[in-house]
Amino acid sequence: MIKKMVSYSIALGGVSLGALLLSGLGNAMEKPDPMMYPYAPSLLRYQKSSAQFTPPETCAGCHPQQYQEWQGSMHALAFTDPVYQGELNKAHKAVGNDVTRQCEGCHTPAGVVTGEVKGPGVSGLSDVAVSGVSCDICHSVSGHSGWETPYRQPENGSLILSPGKDTPAGPVLTKYGPNKRTEECGGGFHECVEQPLLAKSELCANCHQVHHYESHTPLESTYREWKDGPYAVKGIGCQDCHMVDTETFIRSADTFKKPERGQIRHYFNGANFLVYALAEQAAKKSGDEELAKNIHEKYAMAVARLQAAADLEVTPVYRDQRLAEIKVRVKNLRAGHNLPTSLTNIRQLWLEMTVKDQSGKVVMTTGTVNKKGELPKEARLFNSEGMEKGFHFAVDPWEVIAFARHDTIPPKGYKDVYYGVSAGSGKGPLSVEVKLRYRQAEQELAHALLAAVPKDIDLAATYGLTAMPDLPIVDMVSKSVKVKPVL
Ligand code: HEC
Ligand code: HEC
Ligand code: HEC
Ligand code: HEC
Ligand code: HEC
Repeated sequence: MIKKMVSYSIALGGVSLGALLLSGLGNAMEKPDPMMYPYAPSLLRYQKSSAQFTPPETCAGCHPQQYQEWQGSMHALAFTDPVYQGELNKAHKAVGNDVTRQCEGCHTPAGVVTGEVKGPGVSGLSDVAVSGVSCDICHSVSGHSGWETPYRQPENGSLILSPGKDTPAGPVLTKYGPNKRTEECGGGFHECVEQPLLAKSELCANCHQVHHYESHTPLESTYREWKDGPYAVKGIGCQDCHMVDTETFIRSADTFKKPERGQIRHYFNGANFLVYALAEQAAKKSGDEELAKNIHEKYAMAVARLQAAADLEVTPVYRDQRLAEIKVRVKNLRAGHNLPTSLTNIRQLWLEMTVKDQSGKVVMTTGTVNKKGELPKEARLFNSEGMEKGFHFAVDPWEVIAFARHDTIPPKGYKDVYYGVSAGSGKGPLSVEVKLRYRQAEQELAHALLAAVPKDIDLAATYGLTAMPDLPIVDMVSKSVKVKPVL
């Protein structure tokens, strides 16, 4: 900083330091110090010692329940996920390591700090690297440096990883947990360290708050959406909905009552039923029926979560006694952040409506997917639209530097949509059917991504994918109402 000031004042001759600060130059947001952040643009930090990271299968020996819950979860799949690998490969081709290190910092943090992962691809890597966000990521977190960065928030991987320490007797593993340490803790394998961060949303925020590697545009803002909403104030954090079963999540959302420690489950279940479906397929192909069953339960949980997240209200609007519009209110009942959240420019959440007259003839439809899996242009989507430097539409995270539109539903909030309909000449009631539908991405994008998957992932051999199938859609809520055309 001082050095910079000096060179400015030399360059500007007589201009005083005060004038410089007033002119705004001194206020420019600094980039994080590369000396502090050797893995930049990822903000990961590593307290290196001769203690190594431990693969999850070793933890499973003494913590079988946590392992079973985590196995096949999105955290277990964070690195091998073919959708991620496809996009990573595209990022590598477009920008190179300057951006992929940032991606890997969240999708395989241990692989980054040990220097093992150096770009797309999954073969020849250690168990720890391939295991993505595994036990020894979260339980090696001695703290985070988010409050010290120029941005003053946990984001972009700002975790400090300390898997162990050197002692005169040799390396000792240190595992950070939410509870007070006890005598027997660690079973002689690891020391236990109490770490209150584990029970806070700020742990998750380090990876669930994603900013552009150069422009700092918020690309995934789940943590900030949560922090600005009612759940943060009521003390209901990410863990209270994502580290419990479906029933307990619903209770957290409806009553703001925190789960007991004994109700904690390592499911990290969200909305990604598509990747669970792929992973279940892969487990079946490899002959591991037990794993396939485990992942199938996670798939069902993701669908159940989506179906508990929202509600619809359908109301006719009359003008001069005649039906003029149908109002659809979409409520975010139980997502602790916006609905949808994170990759809002890629996920698709939309309304489909069909209106039929008394004879069953369709008088209006909107939001119906065609045979090729495409949505009509006029469909009402709740999402965002990213754009690149030249004010054109963009989806890739290294290109998106601003949003042309942000239209998601805040926690415990709603959005109203009005559809014009004609009362027509009919006298009998109209049947109105409305559905709130969700899928991971539009059909075309999924095509492009799977085509970009690195060569060492064989989609046919691993997942049985030879052609791109129609992306599955989940109906989150459906409502049917009868509406009088004339009052
Ligand atoms: C700060 C942490 C972080 C960084 C950096 C990051 N990601 Fe992610 N990524 C996430 C999280 C968290 C999700 C899960 C969001 C969700 O499912 O809603 C995710 C999801 C994804 C998905 C969707 C996967 C699926 O199956 O739908 C892709 C693709 C992806 N990331 C690619 C990338 C690429 C490429 C980069 C680098 C340009 C990157 N990510 C950088 C945290 C990060
Ligand atoms: C994404 C981060 C994350 C990952 C990955 C993770 N944990 Fe945890 N773990 C937590 C958090 C957070 C808690 C405490 C939750 C609370 O009490 O609010 C916890 C609690 C625990 C506990 C205390 C007892 C309990 O269940 O509450 C044990 C033991 C544990 N984890 C072991 C594991 C093992 C073994 C793995 C790998 C199979 C693992 N964890 C993977 C975040 C993680
Ligand atoms: C040789 C057995 C053994 C192995 C292997 C083992 N642990 Fe533990 N661990 C224990 C015992 C015993 C406890 C105390 C009882 C309990 O909480 O289950 C414990 C407790 C914990 C806790 C809870 C601390 C708290 O705050 O309640 C965490 C977190 C944890 N272990 C993480 C891990 C991780 C991560 C691994 C793999 C890197 C691992 N353990 C491997 C035996 C083991
Ligand atoms: C080290 C980074 C990291 C940390 C810490 C982390 N996550 Fe994640 N999380 C990810 C990544 C990366 C993905 C997405 C993997 C993918 O889509 O391929 C993900 C996925 C998820 C998903 C699944 C999303 C979906 O679409 O189904 C949930 C839910 C989730 N995380 C919750 C949490 C919670 C709760 C915490 C804190 C206890 C947490 N995460 C901590 C990196 C992290
Ligand atoms: C009150 C319960 C609740 C809380 C608190 C909560 N979530 Fe969620 N989360 C949900 C529900 C319901 C969904 C499914 C609907 C959706 O996708 O928004 C979800 C979905 C997600 C997804 C998947 C999004 C997608 O479409 O791919 C991620 C990632 C996630 N949550 C992370 C977090 C993180 C990180 C926090 C804390 C900052 C958090 N959640 C807090 C209920 C909650």
